[in-house]
Amino acid sequence: MKKMKIVNLLKYIPILIGIKRDRDLAFNLVVKLAGRILPEYRFTWPHLAWWKDANFNEYLHRFDEDAGFNTHRRWVLNQLIRLTANVQGDTAECGVYKGCSSYAILKSNTRSAIPRWHHIFDSFEGLSSPSSKDSEYWARGDLSVGEGMVKQNLAEFDDRLTLYKGWIPNRFDEVSKLRFSFVHVDVDLYQPTSDSITFFYDRLSDGGIFLCDDYGFDTCTGATAAIDEFLQSKPEKMLALPDGGGFFIKSCTTAGK
Ligand SMILES: C[S@@+](CC[C@H](N)C(=O)[O-])C[C@H]1O[C@@H](n2cnc3c(N)ncnc32)[C@H](O)[C@@H]1O
Repeated sequence: MKKMKIVNLLKYIPILIGIKRDRDLAFNLVVKLAGRILPEYRFTWPHLAWWKDANFNEYLHRFDEDAGFNTHRRWVLNQLIRLTANVQGDTAECGVYKGCSSYAILKSNTRSAIPRWHHIFDSFEGLSSPSSKDSEYWARGDLSVGEGMVKQNLAEFDDRLTLYKGWIPNRFDEVSKLRFSFVHVDVDLYQPTSDSITFFYDRLSDGGIFLCDDYGFDTCTGATAAIDEFLQSKPEKMLALPDGGGFFIKSCTTAGK
């Protein structure tokens, strides 16, 4: 009897091998199954461009991000920065971690007709202390990566970037005379996000983009509040992205929600 059952199961092996080999078939099956298990969540179909983009996947692999949760936000940064091709100014990132998003920014800068320098601000000791405005998800020192690793990961661009080690906003003064075309803020907490948008808003060129990786996440209520509070009196409002994060374009008036 037991033998019979095993023999019956064996007939499914070629089907399973077929599904594993045929990635499109596997994708369709997963979307169908997922829709049955969690019908109120809208899974995306048909395939997204990033899935089969070899360069993009190579980039994710370089930072061990092929299996992570950040793919869509990485894709958005790579796409959005293209909008700033003709915008004057340098680029900046607040919160670098291992350097994955700075790598994409630097790669874009190497292709730019406008010469650009990239400025990176990080404690290299992880997050500062969360305040009462932040979610309880974070603790001081989370996401700490040493300066050495970031230097190594971004070594191919070392003639066009500066690392400013320190707590935000302590070293912003050093770039106070510059203009920026693209600013990426990814520090997860209220206070450094508030300091970053306050400093960079006035220095962003018209058409420049301010992108915040943390916007809209329930783990980053403080960062989201800091941005909404700041933009309340400004013509630009944040555009929230479907997979988290948000951005605005300087001097592009945006309707409120
Ligand atoms: C989510 S990680 C950044 C991820 C990164 N953008 C990427 O592409 O993977 C947050 C970073 O913010 C830095 N950070 C957080 N709070 C900070 C503060 N108050 N001052 C300076 N750096 C801070 C941490 O050290 C960490 O590297």
